[in-house]
Amino acid sequence: MPIQEKCRILDHQKVAPFHFKITLVSKYISSHAEPGQFVNVRCSQDYDPLLRRPLGVHNVNPEEEIFELLYEIVGKGTELLSKHQVGQEIDILGPLGNGFDINKDKKVAILVAGGMGVAPLLYLAKFLRSTIHDPRSIHILIGTKTKELILAEKEFKTLTDNVIVSTDDGSYGKKGFVSDVLLETLDPRTIDASATIYACGPKPMLKAIAEIAFQKKIDCQVSMEARMACGIGTCLGCVINTTKGYQKVCDDGPVFDAKEIVWTS
Ligand SMILES: Cc1cc2nc3c(=O)[nH]c(=O)nc-3n(C[C@H](O)[C@H](O)[C@H](O)COP(=O)(O)OP(=O)(O)OC[C@H]3O[C@@H](n4cnc5c(N)ncnc54)[C@H](O)[C@@H]3O)c2cc1C
Ligand code: FES
Repeated sequence: MPIQEKCRILDHQKVAPFHFKITLVSKYISSHAEPGQFVNVRCSQDYDPLLRRPLGVHNVNPEEEIFELLYEIVGKGTELLSKHQVGQEIDILGPLGNGFDINKDKKVAILVAGGMGVAPLLYLAKFLRSTIHDPRSIHILIGTKTKELILAEKEFKTLTDNVIVSTDDGSYGKKGFVSDVLLETLDPRTIDASATIYACGPKPMLKAIAEIAFQKKIDCQVSMEARMACGIGTCLGCVINTTKGYQKVCDDGPVFDAKEIVWTS
């Protein structure tokens, strides 16, 4: 059940040229948000921009009653958000949407993040680490365009040794698309149908990951993005085409079974 709340900013750090991590105080969201859910953020202190902006829950700490968001400045809303100072309050609606479906029978978890896709996957990795998997069975692949855009690598490495970083230009880690790196990693002796892939990132990457998962008969869940208006399932502004018909990313998703998405180029 989402709530609307003014959350105090406990910390707000620039972590890359256009990327920020913000820590917010909320007893409710820190203890109710599930991996893969998002919050809808009023990015300014007034109504310009009118619409809230969706951001995935990056991390939670229920004991300290805080949660984190990791975001990139891409336009007006995120630019205004980045100007907020520690101690100010931000109007948040959440947690929203359906997160990842954790299949406790699956032995291996493969998390694939493209670009800002790391945002919800850190919380998922932490959750998997604390509830189901031993660290050896969690594999994390982080792909970005170039070295300075790699985020949260250190945090992922506290959870498992199996973290592979790749950059499209080869400036850090393996060179190439993260989907190609995934193929190299998919050693049939260790990673097979007993695995689940959890992916978040740009649509072409998700499509490529979904195809690999389909060929290898591996369950795959993808966190989809769409421009959103209401964020709570009423405006139909965020629908995508699926095998079940049109579905709302904000309400039916954002996480879907990759087999259900009607992928277009
Ligand atoms: C469920 C969900 C979770 C998200 N989680 C995160 C997150 O954790 N961190 C993060 O940095 N971003 C995340 N996003 C994307 C984020 O919501 C957008 O970047 C943000 O709304 C842009 O707002 P803006 O006002 O800064 O940019 P705008 O001025 O609204 O847009 C700037 C540019 O970005 C494009 N754009 C904006 N939103 C989207 C979108 N949803 N899909 C594709 N293109 C878009 C616009 O077309 C435009 O070209 C998420 C989106 C969704 C749907
Ligand atoms: S954003 Fe309104 S229905 Fe999804």
